[in-house]
Amino acid sequence: MILRRRGADVLVRAPAKVNLFLEALRRRADGYHELATLMTAVSLYDTLRFRDDPSGSVRLRCDRPDLSTGPDNLICRAAELLRRRVGRDLGVDAFLWKRIPTAAGLGGGSSDAAAALVGLNVLWRLGLGRDELIALAAELGSDVPFFFGACSPRSRLGLVSWCTGRGEMVEPLTLGRPLDFVLVSPPFGLSTAEVFRNIVAAPEPVSGAEVRRAAEAGDVEELGRRLHNRLQAAAERLRPETAEWRERLAALGPAGAMMTGSGSTVFALCRSSEEALRVARGLNAFREKGAGPRVHIVRSCF
Ligand code: C5P
Repeated sequence: MILRRRGADVLVRAPAKVNLFLEALRRRADGYHELATLMTAVSLYDTLRFRDDPSGSVRLRCDRPDLSTGPDNLICRAAELLRRRVGRDLGVDAFLWKRIPTAAGLGGGSSDAAAALVGLNVLWRLGLGRDELIALAAELGSDVPFFFGACSPRSRLGLVSWCTGRGEMVEPLTLGRPLDFVLVSPPFGLSTAEVFRNIVAAPEPVSGAEVRRAAEAGDVEELGRRLHNRLQAAAERLRPETAEWRERLAALGPAGAMMTGSGSTVFALCRSSEEALRVARGLNAFREKGAGPRVHIVRSCF
């Protein structure tokens, strides 16, 4: 997350995330699943602009007319949560330039929510501490707190964390080297809740110890072999096209290919930025005219 001021405006760039490992350990009494997941932020950003609104109302506009900008949008929910927390009718005129595909397993809505908490804390001069903001973040969604890990001085090469609980307990890691990816986002989204409802519990959960070691060592080959996502089989049953795109990526020979989060985006983990370019070009053979997938070449980042 990158924040800067431009005159009276506060601008925040909110990155997407990719899950390199995701195991669902058990279903909890509150309906959520106990998770173990390795997430990295990647260089695909939404941009948010916050401007004081003296009328005292919360207003959001977006460059994508199909996206809801009403009270259900996580940016508005973050603003309302802050207003309730401080007990003041503070106003904001917010604008969102949406670049991260939605319902795609890339955490775009969560990253926007984290950016709104940080941006409005500055705009409204609330002076809330990081821990307080992270606690509010967890109320908005399981993977919102992850996006605060960017402030960790320990991770020099990008925002990478091992997340547990329902995803909200965040332990920053240090990557051994930057990671290059190709993201393929099909022209349909998947509902996180529906994918979780369809998972089949594993008799033996997969351990994340090796994938963590490989990430910290910067061993891309080993990381590629250890990619794991418990949600993938359920998502591929719901939308078999997801499996087709994953298989096409794998056939192009990257270190690994998998779905991120609850889908629908699949990604190739590549050995270099040159390989990422080659893999992205290799997809051209499969791209139909019209509503094909969106393809992004990205790198681990803040
Ligand atoms: O926390 P968030 O609102 O992003 O989660 C969306 C939905 O995904 C939840 O309502 C739940 O159905 C499912 N989920 C889950 N276990 C988690 C995280 C999310 O079952 N750890």
